[in-house]
Amino acid sequence: MSAIVEIQGIEKKYPGVVANHNVNLAIKKGEIHAIIGENGAGKSTLMKILYGMVMPDSGTILVDGKKVIFKSPQDSIALGIGMVHQHFMLADNASVLENVILGSEPTSFGGVIQVDAARAKLIEITKNYGLDINPDQLVAELGVGERQRVEIAKVLYRGAQILILDEPTAVLVPQEVDELFRNLKDLTSHGLTIIFISHKLDEVLSIADDISVMRAGTTVASVIPSKTNKKELAELMVGRELPKRREVSTKPGLEKILEIKDATYVTPDHREILHGVSLEVHSGEILGVAGVEGNGQSELIEMIMGLVKASSGNVSIMGHDISDSSSREIRDSGVGYIPQDRQRDGLLMSAPLWENRILGHQATAPMANGFWLNKAAAKKDSERIVVDLDVRTPSINVMAAALSGGNQQKFIVGREMADKPSLLIAAQPTRGVDVGAQALIWNQLIEARLAGMAILLISADLDELFNLSDRLAVISGGKIVAVLDPDKTTPEQLGLAMTGEKIA
Ligand SMILES: Nc1ncnc2c1ncn2[C@@H]1O[C@H](COP(=O)(O)OP(=O)(O)OP(=O)(O)O)[C@@H](O)[C@H]1O
Ligand SMILES: [Mg+2]
Repeated sequence: MSAIVEIQGIEKKYPGVVANHNVNLAIKKGEIHAIIGENGAGKSTLMKILYGMVMPDSGTILVDGKKVIFKSPQDSIALGIGMVHQHFMLADNASVLENVILGSEPTSFGGVIQVDAARAKLIEITKNYGLDINPDQLVAELGVGERQRVEIAKVLYRGAQILILDEPTAVLVPQEVDELFRNLKDLTSHGLTIIFISHKLDEVLSIADDISVMRAGTTVASVIPSKTNKKELAELMVGRELPKRREVSTKPGLEKILEIKDATYVTPDHREILHGVSLEVHSGEILGVAGVEGNGQSELIEMIMGLVKASSGNVSIMGHDISDSSSREIRDSGVGYIPQDRQRDGLLMSAPLWENRILGHQATAPMANGFWLNKAAAKKDSERIVVDLDVRTPSINVMAAALSGGNQQKFIVGREMADKPSLLIAAQPTRGVDVGAQALIWNQLIEARLAGMAILLISADLDELFNLSDRLAVISGGKIVAVLDPDKTTPEQLGLAMTGEKIA
């Protein structure tokens, strides 16, 4: 097979950081080519260069053997390259169809947008590749997995032949991953080429035809799955042995920290999302919540955080009914919150990292000092987080946007655990972090649990749920359908419970 994309000697520097250095890569037509590497290794930067979003300082890109210079994504799209970003870029207040056609509206001679033709084309694409989306739904109503399918449809709509997917599976549950992989295989059998970034080595080994490894900005190896294994890949990425996870043994305490009693949530347009949910999380306990995305997890989190109000029933934290409290009051009462969408809800992207330490914590000590913000404390503690969570950044003064996705995530985890909350709501706490950082975050959660923190863990990662949870609550169709003991449950049983099947 000939190389459809060749990348030679790419260099890209940011202030204080070499993001890409002497990057060389050859992608064959019709293959699935995985790119792996630690957080901050330069994967997204390289993909943005290939997509024309970022200009390299030097180096060459060849598409179909011809040298190209992309000045913007329009140039790369014209050559059939499409990209789905690590962080989605959809307009919330528009429909799926509007989002798909945004920027490439089909017009008739009069300049009128031909919505019907566009809808027909989108429906054909979704049928061909089995992408389950509804063209007329509002994007704001979609879960992360659905948003991703919209992004993929959008790229295909523009006629992409080479698809770049930056961590597409980070946000998916196992069933959805299987579905995505079937879609990707389908696409390659139609002659499309897929470049795919992932931190999940099992996945990469199962789906990729070729694997390229990046470390510290440069390509260090290219291997094929049949000639390597997880351990070797991890060592190629990290250049050292991985930290081991600590064993948990002590029993959780008895003090009820979070108590949800018979809570329902009905949306303003009368959709009943949560039905009679009751849950308790005790001090020193990690309660895992497992479920296929879109089964009420987001609303459950929003209800606890005071972002939506329960329609009936109540939520209390340490014995205080917080059903009518504001989000601010709930946080200030000692609740840490790692949101699932880090860029939308977790960070001010254009503010320096140290200011992001204050975000959400501006009203209580140590970040607040009477009426004043304690900037010195924010800076000092940001330095500590950078060390404790191994956040790769040139300094705490750079904008949050300058950090790689995984490093942004590590910073948020550090911040939300910093003030030792009594309750931590951890939604997808290791989404998008590399294997080493995942072990680090798991250890931090386990240590906090041992110190008495109550943790509600919402995760799409079954390994994470099994490894960390003292108990596992399964949510399906907005109901808690089972509470399981992870030591007595197999992943298959959990999978069945998640899809609403009764466990035999
Ligand atoms: N716009 C930017 N300004 C400054 N520095 C940047 C910018 N974008 C990326 N960097 C830096 O370049 C390096 C590579 O980042 P990149 O996002 O490519 O990493 P990555 O391999 O995709 O990591 P992750 O797995 O965490 O997504 C990082 O050190 C990051 O901080
Ligand atoms: Mg990235």
